[in-house]
Amino acid sequence: MDESLILQVKQRYNIVGNCEALNRAIEIALKIAPVDLSVLVTGENGVGKEIFPRIIHDHSLRKGKKYFAVNCGAIPEGTIDSELFGHEKGAFTGAIDQREGYFAAANGGTLFLDEVGELPLQTQARLLRVLETGEYIRVGSSEVRKTNVRIVAATNVNMEKAIAEGKFREDLYYRLNTISISVPALRDRGDDAALLFRKFALDMSERYKMPPVRLTEDAVRLLVAYPWKGNVRQLKNLTENMSVTAEKREIDAETLRTYLPADSFHNQLVAVNETPREHSFETEREILYKILFDLRRDVSELKRIVREQNLTQPSSLGARTESHNLVFGTHPADNFEKEEEDAFWEAEEVKEELAEQTPKKTTEEVLTPVGRSLEEVECEMIRRALAEHNGRRKQAADSLGISERTLYRKIKEYQLENE
Ligand SMILES: Nc1ncnc2c1ncn2[C@@H]1O[C@H](COP(=O)(O)OP(=O)(O)OP(=O)(O)O)[C@@H](O)[C@H]1O
Ligand SMILES: [Mg+2]
Repeated sequence: MDESLILQVKQRYNIVGNCEALNRAIEIALKIAPVDLSVLVTGENGVGKEIFPRIIHDHSLRKGKKYFAVNCGAIPEGTIDSELFGHEKGAFTGAIDQREGYFAAANGGTLFLDEVGELPLQTQARLLRVLETGEYIRVGSSEVRKTNVRIVAATNVNMEKAIAEGKFREDLYYRLNTISISVPALRDRGDDAALLFRKFALDMSERYKMPPVRLTEDAVRLLVAYPWKGNVRQLKNLTENMSVTAEKREIDAETLRTYLPADSFHNQLVAVNETPREHSFETEREILYKILFDLRRDVSELKRIVREQNLTQPSSLGARTESHNLVFGTHPADNFEKEEEDAFWEAEEVKEELAEQTPKKTTEEVLTPVGRSLEEVECEMIRRALAEHNGRRKQAADSLGISERTLYRKIKEYQLENE
C-alpha cells in the first residue's frame, strides 16, 4: 500500500508512531474498510483501539451514514438489550415510552461495539442473530425488525480464554472476528514511546502556554525500555502529569523514574544504566559472575607467565576446592540454575587448568578472593576501585561493572564513606 496514504491517515486522526506493526494495523483498516464485513479490533488496554472503527467507517461506503460508538462495558446488564435493540412502552418498569435502539439508529451505517467481551450472554445471542440475519426484536416486542448495520467491535479481553470459561460465545466470536486488526502494545513499538512523549508534551505546552518538557538521553532510554502496562494511555497521563508538576523542563532518568510506578523499579534501573556496549550488574550474583570472569582472565595471564618461566612444580590446588564453596555458600550445583551452573563449571575448569601447571604460592596470590566471604571480596574490590580512581565514584562504578547507584549502596553497607 502507498505509504503516503498511511501517513495521511496518521495526520488526519492524530496517530503518532512509526513502528511496523502499527503501520500494518492502519493498512489493514484501510484495505478492509470498503469490504462490508465485521471487524474485531484487539489489543491491550490503552493501545489506541478506539480510532480504528472510525477510520474504517470513514473509508467505507457507509461514510455518509450514521456512526455510533457504544461502550458495552459501561452499560448495566439490565439495560444493555434495550440500549442496543430498543424496547416497547411498558416492556419493563420505567419503560414509559418506546425507544429505538442503536441497531435501528445506525441503520445503513456503522456501529462500534467497544469492550464487546463484556456483553452478557443473552445479549450475545441477540447480537449473533443480527449479524447472521440482520434481524432483531425490541425488548417487550415480538415483531421482527430488519437493520443493515456494519459492526466493528473492540476488546482487550483474551477472547480464547473468555470462550474457554464460557463467558463468550464461540460462534459469535468467529462471526465478529471475520477480519481482525491487532494493535501492538507500546512496549513492542521501539522508539514510538519517545515520539508519543514529544507529541503529548507539545499538546500540553500548547494547552497551558508553557515550554514543553524534554527528556535527556538516559531518560529516553528508560522511556523506551519501560514495559508500559497501560500502554499509550499510561504514557499520555504520565506526560500530562509531568508537564504540569515537574519543576524543571528537562527531565532526566532519575526524575522520570519518580513518575513511574514503584513496582518496576528494577527494570527502570537496568534500562537507565544499559547502553549498547556496557552492561550493568545489579545483583550480588552478577557481581560474582564478574569476579569469576576476571579470575579467568587473571588465570590466563598467569598461565602465560608460567609458560614463560617454564615452571614445572606440581600444585596442591585441589585442597582448595572446599574453600571455593565458601564464596558460593553450599555446593553451587545444588541450587544454581543453568547459567549459574555454567559459571561455576567454568571456574572449576579454570582451577583444573591451574592445578596442572601452577606453583602453590603464585596460585594463592591470584586466587586471593577464594576462601573469603563474598562480602569481603566485594568490599575489597570496591575499596581497590575507589583507590584506583582517587575516590571518583562514577569511574570506580564503571570499572567494577556496576551502576553508580549500586556502588553508593555498597559504600554505605561496608561503611567505606570515610576511607
Ligand atoms: N498512536 C497514538 N497516537 C496518539 N495518541 C494515541 C495513540 N494511541 C493511543 N492514543 C491515545 O491514547 C489514549 C488511549 O487510547 P484508546 O482509548 O483508543 O485505548 P484502547 O485501546 O481503547 O484502550 P482500552 O482497551 O483500555 O479501552 C487515547 O487518549 C488515545 O487518543
Ligand atoms: Mg477503549
